[in-house]
Amino acid sequence: MPTAMIIGASRGIGLELARQYAAAGWRVHATTRTPAQPGALGAIGGEVVIHALDVRHAPQLEALAQAVATEGIDVLIHNAGVAGRGMDPAEVRRINTDAPIRVAQALLPAVTRSSEKKLVLVTSQLGARRGHKGSLGLYGDSKAALNDAFRAHAPAWGRGGLVAVVMHPGWVRTDMGGAMAPLSVEESVRGMRQVIARLTPADHGRFWTWEGREHSW
Ligand SMILES: NC(=O)c1ccc[n+]([C@@H]2O[C@H](COP(=O)([O-])OP(=O)(O)OC[C@H]3O[C@@H](n4cnc5c(N)ncnc54)[C@H](OP(=O)(O)O)[C@@H]3O)[C@@H](O)[C@H]2O)c1
Repeated sequence: MPTAMIIGASRGIGLELARQYAAAGWRVHATTRTPAQPGALGAIGGEVVIHALDVRHAPQLEALAQAVATEGIDVLIHNAGVAGRGMDPAEVRRINTDAPIRVAQALLPAVTRSSEKKLVLVTSQLGARRGHKGSLGLYGDSKAALNDAFRAHAPAWGRGGLVAVVMHPGWVRTDMGGAMAPLSVEESVRGMRQVIARLTPADHGRFWTWEGREHSW
């Protein structure tokens, strides 16, 4: 039975990732900031293990790594993120830029122990500079900085045998994406899972969309 870990699975895209992997028969480790009130995450059938994690909280991250110290994680997806409206910019960077790298590093041994060895950091097309000069806004800048940090770590992760990518999930109807977004979480996650299933070492270190198109940086 393959194993997936979804970081930030309480709602939106992360909840649907947990739901679809569990429905496909995977063992799923799912993290939430509120494990005592798991809500819809607690109602998913199948083999789902719920863990506490605020991605800024180092002791919780250490406990999570310990909890899977004898397991392999075939697919690790760091999905947690914030739009940042009304937030302290430093907090937005901690969550959107620093945490995905720190979480990936902490869980790298478990991913390396698995068969598939896949790592997906959820980014956004709004973090693509594409010749943009100046600010992309607080959210876009935090994701552009995540993409930069990902590219800095990708060579070492690749030498460790991982297939690591950043992925844009599309514009999706969630609390973050809003009601006008064209994609449902079901469609976005179905696409993401197909792209992840097809990843090979040749795809490592690159920026993919939920539809399997390569995105420019
Ligand atoms: N929706 C879109 O159109 C879109 C487009 C491009 C990229 N994305 C990216 O896709 C990812 C998921 O977005 P979404 O639309 O599903 O957003 P969402 O509905 O707002 O859900 C965000 C998720 O991140 C979690 N989270 C936020 N801060 C956290 C923290 N400090 N520690 C742990 N978990 C935390 C939330 O947990 P709580 O419930 O505890 O707050 C929630 O599970 C994000 O990285 C986002 O930037 C989304």
